Amino acid sequence: MERKYLIVGNWKMNKTPSQSEDLVKKIIDLKTRHGISAHVTIAICPPFTSLDRCAEWLKNTDIAIGAQNLYFEKEGAFTGEISASMLKDLRLTYVIIGHSERRAIFHETDEQIHQKVKIAQASQLIPILCVGETLDERESNRTLTVIETQISHVLEGLTNTNLVIAYEPVWAIGTGKTATPEMAQKVHQFIRELLQKQFGKGSQIIPILYGGSMKPDNAADLLTQPDIDGGLIGGASLVAESFMDIVATKGLSPLDSRKES
Ligand code: PGA
Repeated sequence: MERKYLIVGNWKMNKTPSQSEDLVKKIIDLKTRHGISAHVTIAICPPFTSLDRCAEWLKNTDIAIGAQNLYFEKEGAFTGEISASMLKDLRLTYVIIGHSERRAIFHETDEQIHQKVKIAQASQLIPILCVGETLDERESNRTLTVIETQISHVLEGLTNTNLVIAYEPVWAIGTGKTATPEMAQKVHQFIRELLQKQFGKGSQIIPILYGGSMKPDNAADLLTQPDIDGGLIGGASLVAESFMDIVATKGLSPLDSRKES
């Protein structure tokens, strides 16, 4: 099976169910009007309250859907939390785990994120594991150490390669500041090596996405880097046109051929 680019919209805490419906309809419409490259998979991650409705709209399309979080216990007295089996029952494919907003605002630890990745995989959901350094960590030259720590703690002991990694420098999220393609490529290559060490050859199927102020006008430069396999898009995914302009980025060749060249 061909490895494809993966472009994921992270809607965060935006869009009511009816607004979500409008957005998802526009995305479906734009996809049918512009021929989208066969090398690209599209996914959206609306808020929990919109998942059921959006999944219904997407059921006869090849656009995938995911959640933005889950809880690591199977079920029980955890008021306000959502389990993996609840998400799976909605026919979701992905779940974002360990986003920097969850780490910073809700104090999620690598240990909790590890548990979340485990339960997601055990429930046949594909985790989109987010990692990334703060500005302070980058400026003190600790970027690669931070990434290595996050990845090694979260993936410790795991063997399942049904996984997506999103490299999201915290200082680039929602700020309009993007990592240069060279900065991003360097970290992506490093992540690729870490995955190779952990999973061996099987690691080659794990897509590594870039996230942090990706927009239609910088997407091509980022997505054509050798180790960038797609994007996790926040702000630009809230407008159907800009999201689909990223999806329709020109010049994306099949990932497998790119790796061999
Ligand atoms: P942004 O968000 O594109 O608005 O920077 C990306 C993300 O947080 O996933």
